[in-house]
Amino acid sequence: MHISFRQIQIFQTVAQTENFTRAAELLHMTQPAISMQVKQLEENVGLSLFERQGKRIVMTAAGRAMHTYACEISAKYQGMVETLEELKNVHQGYIKVSAANTSIYFITRMLAGFSEKNEGITVSLNITNRKTLVEQLQNYDADLVVMGEPPANLDLHSQRLMCNPLVLIAPANHPLAGQKDIPVSAIIGEKFVVREPGSGTRAAIERFFAEHGHTFSSTLEMGSNESIKYSVIAGLGLGIVSLHSIRLELETHSLSILDVENFPIQRYWHIVTREGKWLSPAAQAFKEYVIAEAANYSQDYQRLLLV
Ligand code: PGA
Repeated sequence: MHISFRQIQIFQTVAQTENFTRAAELLHMTQPAISMQVKQLEENVGLSLFERQGKRIVMTAAGRAMHTYACEISAKYQGMVETLEELKNVHQGYIKVSAANTSIYFITRMLAGFSEKNEGITVSLNITNRKTLVEQLQNYDADLVVMGEPPANLDLHSQRLMCNPLVLIAPANHPLAGQKDIPVSAIIGEKFVVREPGSGTRAAIERFFAEHGHTFSSTLEMGSNESIKYSVIAGLGLGIVSLHSIRLELETHSLSILDVENFPIQRYWHIVTREGKWLSPAAQAFKEYVIAEAANYSQDYQRLLLV
């Protein structure tokens, strides 16, 4: 006995409407096509499933028995479709996120919150510097990129997340620590420990000094914010880093922010996708989560400036 799922659907619709024409409308078929499918089904089953009573068609005993199973099968089918849709949608998936080195101070916390709520989604997080992020956008490598400044020469969808102030840091016992409105000229002769060329932080620092008519020469270059902080604490020079990278050091008073004119350098974090790159529902969910969380983080970080 061969019964197709399509025949079950047709049988069920005819059973519920008790009318071939109405069933044909609901299934977007012609009435003769419906009649033929029912006839074939009855031949396959070897039993009559409907009988005419005047203008109505009603189920036979065999029809009623089949109807019970047909309803169960349809419900199961619907459940299967919904489950698969769900799996295809937000709750499962693999997302490639690339983020600027400096964003680890918040993106890891956001990722932890997201993963807790979305256990079926695996996020591969690649932490790298701005130069590599731009290359990845160029090559459609990452689903989502969290970075300082989106490159102007690529077609992108970019959304601002929150402020990213670059602050001037010194050891807590530095003579300028605690002073107000320090002129830039007072720090120009100081040694600086700064991020490597290719980083967004470095580009912003160079632009800032150029805009304010100062020449900037770094004494020491380092590839990570952590090395810069340790170097500054050790007395190797002043540093310019994102406020987001020094939360612990401010809380433990091992670093201080110098109140130099025109500082902090105002920057912003963005979440960026390449135009034309399809964003899976899982990636879309992550993006929305990060955008929503950024609003809370922003207030939290502003409080750090007051420490
Ligand atoms: P970076 O990027 O870690 O490469 O400096 C962050 C930024 O652009 O501010």
